[in-house]
Amino acid sequence: MINSFFNWWVIVITLVNIFACYWLIKWTMKSRPDESAAGEATGHTWDGLQELNNPLPKWWLWLFYFTIIFSLAYLVIYPGLGNFKGTLGWTSHNQYDGEVQESDKKYGPIFAAFAAKSIPELSQDAEALKAGERLYSNYCAQCHGADARGNTGFPNLSDNDWLWGGQPEQIKATIMNGRNGVMPSWAAPLGEQGVENVANYVQSLSGRDVDAASAEAGKAQFNTLCVACHGLDGKGNQALGAPNLTDNIWLHGGSAGRIKKTIAGGKNGVMPAHSEFLGNDKSHLLAAYIYSLSN
Ligand code: HEC
Ligand code: HEC
Repeated sequence: MINSFFNWWVIVITLVNIFACYWLIKWTMKSRPDESAAGEATGHTWDGLQELNNPLPKWWLWLFYFTIIFSLAYLVIYPGLGNFKGTLGWTSHNQYDGEVQESDKKYGPIFAAFAAKSIPELSQDAEALKAGERLYSNYCAQCHGADARGNTGFPNLSDNDWLWGGQPEQIKATIMNGRNGVMPSWAAPLGEQGVENVANYVQSLSGRDVDAASAEAGKAQFNTLCVACHGLDGKGNQALGAPNLTDNIWLHGGSAGRIKKTIAGGKNGVMPAHSEFLGNDKSHLLAAYIYSLSN
């Protein structure tokens, strides 16, 4: 919506321009008192070429009138004159919605047929996987990568390491409802040395060589502050999306510096919910595609 000043600004300028075109053509066609008769020489010459006073060709003139009539008719039917919506009520939104409805009518039954099968069953079905891969490229690849291997902050979906669980129904719930992994920030409660210590302990969990005394001090703090989410053994908790810290697979980067940064600053990983615009059937098919990547 544009405000009422610019509404009239657009309307007046547009209409004045259209009528000015009409006026211009009429004005140039008017016969002047000092003018020579039609088809006669005007008296202008250039390098020996004479200009004749020929009228505009009829077809050209009609084309010109036609464009004027066309533009007026267009502005009556379609939006264009300021806030005036046009008699057809066309908008890009309802054109889009109409196209979506069309395609749902056409492809809906195909997705519904897939949705009637179980996710493990679909994950063996070549046709279903092809359709699932297309949906994946459209809706998921921008975050999880074309090959589903993810990136820093975006989990790899093709391995068998799961933040929120790799069972068919868990994957489907992740896609439909989204997930939010909340890792608190520990810079203030732990201090710099404390962060260093727990980071060393965390790295020792996946078998890295670290300063033993520092890791030992970190273990004590891990056991009070971190086990609630990451578990006593550090293997994580899928109900909270807390990652396994013992497998040397890192969502936020596995260098010593990155691990310290994650612990000090915390993280808030958001997987958006897709149920509203994908619906059950497409989410079901996508879950089968994701499931097939690691099964
Ligand atoms: C409230 C639950 C909770 C607590 C308490 C918690 N974490 Fe986390 N932690 C998470 C979640 C959830 C994630 C994943 C964040 C995401 O999804 O982006 C995470 C991620 C991490 C990561 C990154 C793992 C990776 O793969 O990149 C490290 C390292 C980590 N936590 C260490 C710790 C340490 C050390 C403590 C204790 C000082 C701790 N966490 C306490 C929930 C918790
Ligand atoms: C805007 C970016 C974004 C888009 C788009 C997105 N995701 Fe995610 N997804 C994430 C993030 C970030 C996480 C990790 C959440 C966390 O830290 O707990 C995630 C987590 C997941 C997980 C859980 C992985 C695990 O280890 O448990 C699955 C499954 C998943 N996404 C599938 C999909 C599918 C399928 C699509 C397409 C319909 C999709 N995602 C679209 C960002 C995205």
